[in-house]
Amino acid sequence: MSSHGNPIPMISSPCGALSGVAEVPGDKSISHRSLILGALAVGETTITGLLEGQDVLDTAKAMRAFGAEVTDHGGGSWSVHGVGVGGFAEPESVIDCGNSGTGVRLIMGAMATSPITATFFGDASLNGRPMARVTDPLTLFGCQAVGRAGGRLPMTLVGAKDPVPVRYEVPVPSAQVKSAVLLAGLNAPGQTVVIEAEATRDHTERMLRGFGAEVSVEETEAGRTITLTGQPELRPQHIEVPRDPSSAAFPVCAALIVPGSDVLVPGIGLNPTRAGLFTSLQEMGADLTFENLREEGGEPVADLRARYSPQMKGIEVPPERAASMIDEYPVLSVVAANAKGETVMRGVKELRVKESDRIEAMATGLRANGVEVSDGPDWWTVTGCGPGEVPGGALCASQLDHRIAMSFLILGMAAKAPVRVDDGGPIATSFPIFEPLMAGLGSDLQREEA
Ligand code: S3P
Repeated sequence: MSSHGNPIPMISSPCGALSGVAEVPGDKSISHRSLILGALAVGETTITGLLEGQDVLDTAKAMRAFGAEVTDHGGGSWSVHGVGVGGFAEPESVIDCGNSGTGVRLIMGAMATSPITATFFGDASLNGRPMARVTDPLTLFGCQAVGRAGGRLPMTLVGAKDPVPVRYEVPVPSAQVKSAVLLAGLNAPGQTVVIEAEATRDHTERMLRGFGAEVSVEETEAGRTITLTGQPELRPQHIEVPRDPSSAAFPVCAALIVPGSDVLVPGIGLNPTRAGLFTSLQEMGADLTFENLREEGGEPVADLRARYSPQMKGIEVPPERAASMIDEYPVLSVVAANAKGETVMRGVKELRVKESDRIEAMATGLRANGVEVSDGPDWWTVTGCGPGEVPGGALCASQLDHRIAMSFLILGMAAKAPVRVDDGGPIATSFPIFEPLMAGLGSDLQREEA
């Protein structure tokens, strides 16, 4: 089942060269944060290039429920009239975050230090994901959380009446946890300190500064130490959301494995905390060129050109790179299946608690399509079949996970026989224009009868 409707079975058949310009949608992480920080500022924040995927639309709806005025002006242009730090109203009804871990975890952080109560739930995927990683630090501020066994949604949070600042060492590499703590720290007096042993995406820190909060970052022995001074008045901003490198990954990887392809993806965000996939692909021997490197709205941006690369070889992806490409392992494994030799991915335990267990989901589908995969708790390896040598021909379960569905559809484009997915519906959570965009480049993607 897709997150917001009936299943949409899809088939991807081997296709000719992919070519053209792929204008992928806005960055999902930055889109969520634009709406949430806009809601916490005093006055009107304007946003262009917002990702209008279901995950972000659910966050927009949630911000309205907490009292912000959120307006869709069309074409990715949005505005948010914020209520100020500590100004959230109590929602009248439960908050449905759909499929989005980022949405629910960031919003929980943003409300945890206000004297209001809110109940959160999501789809079957989100209701199965661990939330204690966020509620543990939020209770240190004085918030209370009651959920199902194992810290699962649905869950009710009673925000702290007299929040205290917190010093927290994040036990897992997670930008969502870090961000939830920082957003909670906004309405606590004094300094909230978050320490992460491994650097994760830093959009929250960058954007908080843009909105006028005092945020300092220091490298210490314990790791990256972020200090936020609480109770700032956030100033509304104009935000231009860069295109999402995690969405760009799909047309880029497709171009690398489909013979004769040459695809340009303009204006993608290239924040170093997000760019690990491109480093890995280059190590494999991919023909990638970055053009027009520039800065837009505080984020590095470039135009990325990807060309068919039959010379690619398997590599060992080091664990310290995991955080900077955590969402890209599924599609990297598809490229690895089309390369020569073995690709080893280590330090990737977090993949098991995403929208699905992504190691299990990819291993099962790749094996069904004739690719050899081994896996353990925090590692997996893919033995490449060589360019154009993946047999294909199997049906894969997308497990309510957009990136699993898209990865298998990319696999079909370069396989010997078509690859099917049982449900392409979840793709709309992050990349609603995936089908027309890939068709425009020359892919053969079809919806099938349910
Ligand atoms: C995100 C953080 C990552 C990532 C997710 C988006 C964010 O999750 O997988 O797609 O915007 O903060 P974790 O924090 O669980 O690693």
